[in-house]
Amino acid sequence: MKLRVIKCNVVDRFNQKHLFKRKSRFLCFTRGILLGFVWIGLVSATNARADNATFKAEVMPILEKHCLECHVPGQDGYEKSGLDLRTYESLMKGTNYGSIIVEGDAFTSNMMVLIEGRAGPNLKMPHGRKDLTKWEKVILRRWINRGAQNN
Ligand code: HEC
Repeated sequence: MKLRVIKCNVVDRFNQKHLFKRKSRFLCFTRGILLGFVWIGLVSATNARADNATFKAEVMPILEKHCLECHVPGQDGYEKSGLDLRTYESLMKGTNYGSIIVEGDAFTSNMMVLIEGRAGPNLKMPHGRKDLTKWEKVILRRWINRGAQNN
Protein backbone atom coordinates (compact mmCIF):
# COMPACT_ATOMS: atom_id res chain seq x y z
CA MET A 1 0.00 0.00 0.00
CA LYS A 2 2.77 2.40 0.99
CA LEU A 3 4.62 1.64 -2.21
CA ARG A 4 1.54 2.50 -4.23
CA VAL A 5 1.09 5.87 -2.50
CA ILE A 6 4.74 6.78 -3.04
CA LYS A 7 4.64 5.72 -6.66
CA CYS A 8 1.47 7.71 -7.24
CA ASN A 9 3.00 10.78 -5.60
CA VAL A 10 5.97 10.58 -7.89
CA VAL A 11 3.65 10.39 -10.86
CA ASP A 12 1.65 13.31 -9.43
CA ARG A 13 4.68 15.52 -9.04
CA PHE A 14 5.94 14.63 -12.44
CA ASN A 15 2.58 15.29 -13.97
CA GLN A 16 2.02 18.55 -12.08
CA LYS A 17 5.08 19.85 -13.82
CA HIS A 18 3.65 18.83 -17.13
CA LEU A 19 0.13 19.92 -16.28
CA PHE A 20 -1.35 16.46 -16.68
CA LYS A 21 -2.73 16.29 -13.18
CA ARG A 22 -6.10 14.87 -14.14
CA LYS A 23 -4.65 12.02 -16.05
CA SER A 24 -2.39 11.12 -13.14
CA ARG A 25 -5.29 11.05 -10.71
CA PHE A 26 -7.10 8.75 -13.05
CA LEU A 27 -4.03 6.51 -13.26
CA CYS A 28 -3.72 6.33 -9.47
CA PHE A 29 -7.39 5.50 -9.16
CA THR A 30 -7.20 2.74 -11.75
CA ARG A 31 -4.10 1.35 -10.16
CA GLY A 32 -5.93 1.24 -6.81
CA ILE A 33 -8.82 -0.63 -8.34
CA LEU A 34 -6.50 -3.08 -10.06
CA LEU A 35 -4.64 -3.75 -6.81
CA GLY A 36 -8.00 -4.32 -5.15
CA PHE A 37 -8.85 -6.98 -7.71
CA VAL A 38 -5.48 -8.67 -7.30
CA TRP A 39 -6.05 -8.74 -3.53
CA ILE A 40 -9.55 -10.20 -3.86
CA GLY A 41 -8.17 -12.76 -6.31
CA LEU A 42 -5.45 -13.86 -3.90
CA VAL A 43 -7.85 -14.16 -0.97
CA SER A 44 -10.36 -16.22 -2.91
CA ALA A 45 -7.61 -18.41 -4.35
CA THR A 46 -6.42 -19.32 -0.85
CA ASN A 47 -9.99 -19.95 0.30
CA ALA A 48 -10.60 -22.14 -2.72
CA ARG A 49 -7.56 -24.17 -1.75
CA ALA A 50 -9.09 -24.94 1.65
CA ASP A 51 -12.48 -25.55 0.08
CA ASN A 52 -11.04 -28.17 -2.20
CA ALA A 53 -8.67 -29.63 0.38
CA THR A 54 -8.03 -33.22 -0.59
CA PHE A 55 -6.92 -35.95 1.74
CA LYS A 56 -3.75 -36.73 -0.17
CA ALA A 57 -2.55 -33.23 -0.96
CA GLU A 58 -3.57 -31.34 2.16
CA VAL A 59 -4.72 -33.51 5.04
CA MET A 60 -2.14 -36.31 5.06
CA PRO A 61 0.86 -33.92 5.12
CA ILE A 62 -0.60 -32.28 8.25
CA LEU A 63 -0.99 -35.64 9.98
CA GLU A 64 2.51 -36.63 8.89
CA LYS A 65 3.97 -33.44 10.28
CA HIS A 66 2.12 -33.40 13.62
CA CYS A 67 0.90 -36.89 14.50
CA LEU A 68 2.87 -39.73 12.92
CA GLU A 69 5.71 -39.42 15.38
CA CYS A 70 3.44 -41.11 17.98
CA HIS A 71 0.54 -42.66 16.08
CA VAL A 72 2.26 -45.58 14.39
CA PRO A 73 2.63 -49.10 15.79
CA GLY A 74 5.42 -49.18 18.35
CA GLN A 75 4.91 -45.56 19.48
CA ASP A 76 3.09 -44.24 22.54
CA GLY A 77 0.05 -42.74 20.83
CA TYR A 78 -0.76 -45.94 18.96
CA GLU A 79 0.05 -48.30 21.84
CA LYS A 80 -2.18 -46.38 24.28
CA SER A 81 -5.13 -45.59 22.02
CA GLY A 82 -4.90 -47.93 19.02
CA LEU A 83 -5.00 -44.96 16.67
CA ASP A 84 -2.78 -45.47 13.63
CA LEU A 85 -2.59 -42.37 11.41
CA ARG A 86 -0.58 -43.74 8.50
CA THR A 87 -3.42 -44.16 6.03
CA TYR A 88 -6.95 -42.96 5.25
CA GLU A 89 -8.34 -46.36 6.26
CA SER A 90 -6.55 -46.45 9.61
CA LEU A 91 -7.56 -42.85 10.34
CA MET A 92 -11.22 -43.65 9.64
CA LYS A 93 -11.03 -46.80 11.77
CA GLY A 94 -10.12 -44.63 14.75
CA THR A 95 -9.09 -45.72 18.22
CA ASN A 96 -9.78 -48.89 20.21
CA TYR A 97 -12.95 -47.14 21.35
CA GLY A 98 -14.19 -46.12 17.93
CA SER A 99 -14.18 -43.55 15.20
CA ILE A 100 -12.66 -40.08 15.68
CA ILE A 101 -14.18 -38.58 12.52
CA VAL A 102 -17.87 -37.80 12.07
CA GLU A 103 -18.20 -37.36 8.31
CA GLY A 104 -19.63 -33.92 7.58
CA ASP A 105 -19.36 -32.65 11.14
CA ALA A 106 -15.97 -31.38 12.27
CA PHE A 107 -17.40 -29.95 15.48
CA THR A 108 -18.36 -33.32 16.97
CA SER A 109 -15.41 -35.21 15.45
CA ASN A 110 -13.18 -36.34 18.30
CA MET A 111 -10.08 -35.56 16.29
CA MET A 112 -11.05 -31.88 16.11
CA VAL A 113 -12.20 -31.84 19.75
CA LEU A 114 -8.69 -32.94 20.73
CA ILE A 115 -6.76 -30.79 18.25
CA GLU A 116 -8.74 -27.70 19.26
CA GLY A 117 -8.22 -28.49 22.95
CA ARG A 118 -11.95 -28.70 23.64
CA ALA A 119 -11.51 -31.85 25.76
CA GLY A 120 -9.23 -29.97 28.17
CA PRO A 121 -5.54 -29.08 28.17
CA ASN A 122 -4.35 -32.56 29.25
CA LEU A 123 -5.99 -34.21 26.28
CA LYS A 124 -4.82 -31.75 23.66
CA MET A 125 -3.27 -33.18 20.49
CA PRO A 126 -0.52 -33.27 19.45
CA HIS A 127 0.53 -34.32 22.97
CA GLY A 128 3.13 -31.94 24.43
CA ARG A 129 3.95 -30.52 21.00
CA LYS A 130 3.30 -27.26 19.21
CA ASP A 131 -0.35 -26.65 18.27
CA LEU A 132 -1.42 -26.90 14.66
CA THR A 133 -1.57 -23.51 12.95
CA LYS A 134 -4.94 -21.83 12.45
CA TRP A 135 -4.68 -22.59 8.76
CA GLU A 136 -3.97 -26.30 9.30
CA LYS A 137 -7.03 -26.49 11.55
CA VAL A 138 -9.15 -24.79 8.87
CA ILE A 139 -8.02 -27.36 6.29
CA LEU A 140 -8.84 -30.33 8.55
CA ARG A 141 -12.22 -28.83 9.55
CA ARG A 142 -13.26 -28.18 5.97
CA TRP A 143 -12.14 -31.59 4.78
CA ILE A 144 -14.30 -33.25 7.46
CA ASN A 145 -17.24 -30.92 6.85
CA ARG A 146 -17.12 -31.83 3.18
CA GLY A 147 -17.58 -35.50 3.96
CA ALA A 148 -14.05 -36.65 4.92
CA GLN A 149 -13.54 -38.32 1.58
CA ASN A 150 -10.57 -40.37 0.45
CA ASN A 151 -9.70 -37.92 -2.33
C1 HEC B 1 4.00 -36.85 21.27
C2 HEC B 1 3.10 -37.93 20.97
C3 HEC B 1 1.78 -37.65 20.29
C4 HEC B 1 1.55 -36.87 19.19
C5 HEC B 1 2.56 -36.05 18.39
C6 HEC B 1 0.13 -37.01 18.91
N1 HEC B 1 -0.45 -37.84 19.80
FE1 HEC B 1 -2.41 -38.41 19.85
N2 HEC B 1 -2.07 -39.55 21.48
C7 HEC B 1 -0.86 -39.70 22.12
C8 HEC B 1 -1.02 -40.58 23.28
C9 HEC B 1 0.08 -40.99 24.24
C10 HEC B 1 -2.40 -40.94 23.29
C11 HEC B 1 -3.09 -41.87 24.30
C12 HEC B 1 -4.09 -41.13 25.13
C13 HEC B 1 -3.47 -40.29 26.18
O1 HEC B 1 -2.63 -40.79 26.94
O2 HEC B 1 -3.79 -39.09 26.23
C14 HEC B 1 -3.02 -40.29 22.16
C15 HEC B 1 -4.35 -40.40 21.85
C16 HEC B 1 -4.96 -39.81 20.78
C17 HEC B 1 -6.35 -39.94 20.46
C18 HEC B 1 -7.38 -40.76 21.22
C19 HEC B 1 -7.84 -40.06 22.45
C20 HEC B 1 -8.91 -40.85 23.13
O3 HEC B 1 -8.54 -41.67 23.98
O4 HEC B 1 -10.08 -40.66 22.80
C21 HEC B 1 -6.59 -39.20 19.33
C22 HEC B 1 -7.90 -39.02 18.59
C23 HEC B 1 -5.32 -38.61 18.96
N3 HEC B 1 -4.35 -38.99 19.86
C24 HEC B 1 -5.14 -37.79 17.86
C25 HEC B 1 -3.95 -37.20 17.53
C26 HEC B 1 -3.79 -36.36 16.38
C27 HEC B 1 -4.88 -36.01 15.37
C28 HEC B 1 -2.49 -35.94 16.39
C29 HEC B 1 -1.84 -34.98 15.43
C30 HEC B 1 -2.49 -33.70 15.23
C31 HEC B 1 -1.83 -36.54 17.53
N4 HEC B 1 -2.75 -37.31 18.19
C32 HEC B 1 -0.49 -36.37 17.85
C33 HEC B 1 0.34 -39.14 21.75
C34 HEC B 1 0.51 -38.27 20.68
